[in-house]
Amino acid sequence: MNKEKILVTSALPYANGPIHLGHLSGAYLPADIYVRYKRLKGDDIIYVCGSDEHGVPITLSADKENVKPKDIIDRYHNINKEAFTQFGMSFDIYSRTSLPVHHETAQEFFLNYYNQGLLVEKKTKQFYDEKAKMFLPDRYVEGTCPKCGFEEARSDECENCSSYYDPSELINPKSKITGETPVLRETKHWYFPHGKFQKRLEEYIDEMNKKFGWKDNVLQQCKSWFNDGLRDRAYTRDLDWGVKVPLDEAQGKVLYVWFEAVLGYISATKELSEERNDPDLWKRYWQDPATKYVAFIGKDNIVFHTIIFPAMLMSWNDANDAKYLLPQNVPANEFLNFEGRKFSKSRSWGIDVIDFLKQFPADPLRYTLAINAPENKDTDFYWKEFQGRNNGELADILGNFVNRTFTFAHKHFDGKVPVRAELEKIDEEMIELLKEYPSKVGALLEKYKIKDAVFEMMSLARAANKYFNDSEPWITLKQDQEKCGTTINVCLQTIHTLAEIFSPVIPFASKKILEFLNSDLQGWDNCGLLNLPDGHQLNKPEILFSKIEDDIIEAQVNKLNANDEEETRTAEITFDEFTKVDLRVAKVLAAEKIKKSDKLLKLQLEIGKEKRQVVAGIAKSYEPELLIGKKVIMVFNLKPAKLFGNESQGMILAAEDDEGGLHLISVDEKVNTGTKVK
Ligand code: MF3
Ligand code: ZN
Repeated sequence: MNKEKILVTSALPYANGPIHLGHLSGAYLPADIYVRYKRLKGDDIIYVCGSDEHGVPITLSADKENVKPKDIIDRYHNINKEAFTQFGMSFDIYSRTSLPVHHETAQEFFLNYYNQGLLVEKKTKQFYDEKAKMFLPDRYVEGTCPKCGFEEARSDECENCSSYYDPSELINPKSKITGETPVLRETKHWYFPHGKFQKRLEEYIDEMNKKFGWKDNVLQQCKSWFNDGLRDRAYTRDLDWGVKVPLDEAQGKVLYVWFEAVLGYISATKELSEERNDPDLWKRYWQDPATKYVAFIGKDNIVFHTIIFPAMLMSWNDANDAKYLLPQNVPANEFLNFEGRKFSKSRSWGIDVIDFLKQFPADPLRYTLAINAPENKDTDFYWKEFQGRNNGELADILGNFVNRTFTFAHKHFDGKVPVRAELEKIDEEMIELLKEYPSKVGALLEKYKIKDAVFEMMSLARAANKYFNDSEPWITLKQDQEKCGTTINVCLQTIHTLAEIFSPVIPFASKKILEFLNSDLQGWDNCGLLNLPDGHQLNKPEILFSKIEDDIIEAQVNKLNANDEEETRTAEITFDEFTKVDLRVAKVLAAEKIKKSDKLLKLQLEIGKEKRQVVAGIAKSYEPELLIGKKVIMVFNLKPAKLFGNESQGMILAAEDDEGGLHLISVDEKVNTGTKVK
């Protein structure tokens, strides 16, 4: 097969905190496995990544710690770069968006759109926090939705009723930064008209999917964006941290972080050119139609890589002779959860890569994450599973096979590869497998089916152990030395093949095995071809994978649970304070959906002699008709409020699970309504 020229990128992580296992399994490890495999295939490939160093969260972290944004990004750029290195990521470059080359690149793109007359200039009123002296990005303003009464609505859109409105309509707005009431100030921004590109984007995705098979989760998300219709998006922001907008009239404004971050892939490649003293390198990967570009990301980044970035590149290409390549595939993963829940920094739920690697080697983590990658659905990291994969698979299957073979070779064959004499059927079958597996595994990797590929790798190790057992070299040793030698020869050849096909997943162990074998990688297409000559001198092996003991894993689980308990302990209240809440048993007499809201139900309740109407946010968890007759607990003395124009005289109690599902606290049928709950 012809050699391919390939550009691979992974989402640029924010230099605003340490990366955790979820990040690795979404956008980094799958890419690294793919890239390492492609290198062994002999393809011409570069793998580009770096830190995303702008955006509001970075300025807020800096404010909180009373340091400069530069301090934050330097800290986390270095921490994350180091974590990636220890984890065995094989980036050709790990760049950063604070570099001048990036600022210049992003400005060049912006000016190009500006000069094409493509950008739409709009004056709008936006919330300004006079105390923080800054315009507030949408997610830093909260208020009550003018349409449905939802109290956590954003400045111009409500996620409860999906309506858009003018920020001046938001009721009781508050700055999430200072808690102050912000004022509306006029400001001007430049919008990119994504709608103009919708048709071409749909065609592009359709074509790529037909040719290269995009993942369903990716196509689904694109479809839903297209159904809603693409809207103009402001590519500028009123902030001082970021890439300056290169226009005289845009003082105090920077480019929208997502606009410039995706261009960071290009700037990073330019930095690589510089580093390699090869000024045209970046053009060969970005602008040569023979190159294929694959962008690895997590599911929260899909729209930016399948719609926004491609639209940006299309419009550049419309106006320039040198044309950029659009992603040929965007194999986005779903999320990895941790022990049944989402990773959460604030709840100390999860573990950062750098901390993990202080306690365990990288390979078992790589293997566990890869074989359990969230390719088609969210998956979980469990400490117990990690232990099981390490002990039961890496150590007991792969490690054991290597160990028993080497022990035999050193003890009985002088540490040399014994002569491969006459082959029997069982030997031939094993040799056949060695020839088959590289292409079998390779075909899966070509389709980004990392999980299945890793499973197959381990299958070869399983088959190898079976071959060893069935050949019974400990018996032939005494009866037929030559035959025994042949078995051990084939086992060593198998180890060689295993070292190479496993190397994209467990590169550190693979390197060790090759050292034991006193050999090197042969290239993917040659790795099943019995590469060790008779009489080849072997080195002494060491333990490949140490077992992880139960107490080590239990300590991790206990630590996690302790964090969790600490988190769930909230501020104490006095008994008097508690008794102020008047809780009563109520019965649902009638329930109906509230129009235009997918969350709210209107309930008529009976509480003793009294009847009350309560609006409850449980529509996603309960069908109205199933509620009728249920006895529930309500807060009886809650101040009445109006939601969606409906009076609500109280609140009913429900438990919320991790997925946001609500479960009403129900009461035994025998208890009369109106009864107090204490
Ligand atoms: N920093 C973003 C995140 O962590 C990803 C940026 S990807 C890029 O979600 F393409 F924009 F760089
Ligand atoms: Zn609303």
